[in-house]
Amino acid sequence: MNYNIYDKNIAESQKIVLEKYKNPKAYVHTFGCQQNVSDSERIKGMLKAMGYDFTDKITDADFVLFNTCAIREGAELKIFGNIGELKHRKKEHPDMIIALCGCMVQQDRIIEKIKKSYPFVSLCFGTHLTHLLPEMIKNILSNGKKIFRTDGDDGTIPEYVDIKRDCEFKANIPIMNGCNNFCSYCIVPYVRGREKSRMPDDIIAEIKEAVNSGVKEITLLGQNVNSYGKNLAQPVSFAELLRKANEVKGDFIIRFMTSHPKDCTFELIKTIAECEKVSKHIHLPIQSGSNLVLKAMNRGYTREKYLELVNFAKEKIPEIAFTSDIIVGFPTERYEDFLETVDLIKQVEFSQLFTFIFSKRPGTKAAEMEDIIPSSEKSKWMNQLLEVQSEIGYKLNKKLIGRTEKILADGYGKSEEACLTGRTMQNTIVDFKGSPELIGKFVNVKITKATPFATFGELIKN
Ligand code: 5AD
Ligand code: SF4
Repeated sequence: MNYNIYDKNIAESQKIVLEKYKNPKAYVHTFGCQQNVSDSERIKGMLKAMGYDFTDKITDADFVLFNTCAIREGAELKIFGNIGELKHRKKEHPDMIIALCGCMVQQDRIIEKIKKSYPFVSLCFGTHLTHLLPEMIKNILSNGKKIFRTDGDDGTIPEYVDIKRDCEFKANIPIMNGCNNFCSYCIVPYVRGREKSRMPDDIIAEIKEAVNSGVKEITLLGQNVNSYGKNLAQPVSFAELLRKANEVKGDFIIRFMTSHPKDCTFELIKTIAECEKVSKHIHLPIQSGSNLVLKAMNRGYTREKYLELVNFAKEKIPEIAFTSDIIVGFPTERYEDFLETVDLIKQVEFSQLFTFIFSKRPGTKAAEMEDIIPSSEKSKWMNQLLEVQSEIGYKLNKKLIGRTEKILADGYGKSEEACLTGRTMQNTIVDFKGSPELIGKFVNVKITKATPFATFGELIKN
């Protein structure tokens, strides 16, 4: 489905916005994952077409939007704190529109809380209505009525005409949205709905457009990219899509996330091996190394299957890097289960881990399970895990010393000794000294030093 946002909605909304405000300014803040970052880039594209400029100062804005996250309780608490701070600003600037969108807002209990405790919020829209933002703003400005909507899942993803990307040389490109897996701890299937895929031609057209405008790194996004295309009228696999993306002309690299181990195929691994533009890195969340916990999580694979996949990939692509997500303290997890996770981590040798303490999400199956492990114990397990990972990261990074890598200089590094940073094809961070004009360009860097979380290198003159 193609929603041409330049249809009358945008034109009419622009007229009303420009009548209401002298120099309309918008402030958009994004919480959570890359999918949200990508949604916000589409939202900003629409806001720009409606006549808004952008500001980093919330107090200068006529339109404030928080694109929210619901994955863990911490995210929700932070967002409520941020909304609360706007109460006084709304009194000073009554024409300001305060809006919320994204995963957190897709939940009825949150909508009720906002209506009750944050009456200065005028617009809440869920994850399936993003493309209607111009119309919703127009209606609020015309009749002053608040809007709270979470409907609109028609099984498709709208195509957007304009996208305001945060970075000129990197592009997040969503290929699908939603999730059918219902992992027992996860809120995503409830707030993003069932899996829906974009048409391959639309995705390839967006990649071409991005590359032609100077983009050097494409990241294909989906909650489970491995089930891309299954529900299209003419099914296309993710491996086929990657091959098509790899054929697009230009000097750029292709990353992707997230892969679900249960749907990751040997065919995909062969494709990664054969496509020269595709990053030799798979983010493959294991969540737990214990079969009992994996079953209770409803993950659909065993540790043996996972290891089989990893070993196949290591054989086919010797330089491959794996990263993963781990949940510590899932309700049914005992210390023996946790130790199986530690053991698996040692076997796979992930280059990086994203670790989370289990957070109860109302409405999910795991929220009903009795959670017996005290949080102090969970923190101890977490520290143990981080120590093991730190050793593995250090070992892997030290192995890179002496290698010269092609890297996209993508910003300023955090360390004092190096001012630029980038990532290798395997997604390892490399900080190096170089002049800021190199940002956005490919450079060759020889790796000279390693820490558990990053490496350092020297620029090689071409
Ligand atoms: N508690 C803790 N971590 C969670 N994740 C998803 N849901 C929860 C939860 N309820 C983690 C998973 C997932 C990552 C994006 O967030 O590890 O892969
Ligand atoms: Fe959540 Fe599981 Fe879907 Fe990932 S695959 S979004 S963890 S339900």
